[in-house]
Amino acid sequence: MLIRKAGDIRPSEITCESNYLNRRDFIRAGAIAGGSLIASSALAAVIPEMGMARLADVAVSPLSTDETSNSFEDIATYNNFYEFGLDKSDPYKYAEDFKTRPWTIEVSGEAEKTGTFDFDEFVKPFDLEERIYRMRCVEAWSMVIPWVGISLAEVVKHFNPTSKAQYVAFETLNDRKQMPGVRGRALDWPYREGLTIAEATNPLPILAVGIYGNVIPNQNGAPIRLVVPWKYGFKGIKSIVKIRFMSTRPRNSWNMAIPREYGFYANVNPTVSHPRWSQARERRIGAGLFADKQETLMFNGYGEHVAHLYKDLDLRRNY
Ligand code: MTE
Repeated sequence: MLIRKAGDIRPSEITCESNYLNRRDFIRAGAIAGGSLIASSALAAVIPEMGMARLADVAVSPLSTDETSNSFEDIATYNNFYEFGLDKSDPYKYAEDFKTRPWTIEVSGEAEKTGTFDFDEFVKPFDLEERIYRMRCVEAWSMVIPWVGISLAEVVKHFNPTSKAQYVAFETLNDRKQMPGVRGRALDWPYREGLTIAEATNPLPILAVGIYGNVIPNQNGAPIRLVVPWKYGFKGIKSIVKIRFMSTRPRNSWNMAIPREYGFYANVNPTVSHPRWSQARERRIGAGLFADKQETLMFNGYGEHVAHLYKDLDLRRNY
């Protein structure tokens, strides 16, 4: 695994003030950023945030952690996005030209309001918030990421699910032309994920559209991806094109691929080992090669917000 040290240059120092956008400019922000997230110069490849459009009117959230965030470089160059390759350094190289405009999101299933919405129309009713969350990958590494996003609970409320809606399912774009990884068989495409309706209406999950105050880079799931901070990172499905309210539990990609190793719930749990490694400790990306691993916290430290959701569930069986 590749480990990078935190960059010396703070993102705030490299973001040009003229790139600041208010919320009404968000549409244009995406249009600008979607085509040019990574400039071709060598420096921009190291710090891909350069040239990205900045989001404004972003509220600060009391749900943020006060732990130090990873550098933008860590967050944007050490990625899992199998549609763009299997190595951590593949997505930022191969998602450079990924087109995130025009982009539509189809909302379907057990809800009063359904339809296909242009991305900007989809996001417009909701407030942007910064949520600085710990992210714990099932592979036993972690980061702290300052996301900008909209509350998933608010989105669910907006579409007014019927009483039959027990789950929410998500799908990633499946485009062989743009996504080289989809031509291979690493997973059964499209990438799929799901939450129970109780999880989706908890205040913590967001649909992220930004990082470090800027429009989210392609490799992190542009233009919109799920973030569920008490679950392993694979629940955080990227580049979402479909949301479906369902009465039955949807299938999720990693569970479909290796059911013995990856479940539906995927709650961070230091007491339940992955069949091939312990989940008790984690390596914080950017901490340096010789830093001690840190203890993994139950529900990734978000237990006070979510433990009640699982009080009647055997978490050893429902991993
Ligand atoms: N979403 C899609 N569509 N494809 C993927 O391969 N990888 C998942 C998740 N979402 C993945 C995905 C995994 S395993 C992790 S750990 C996180 O994205 C990584 O998010 P990041 O690269 O923004 O840190």
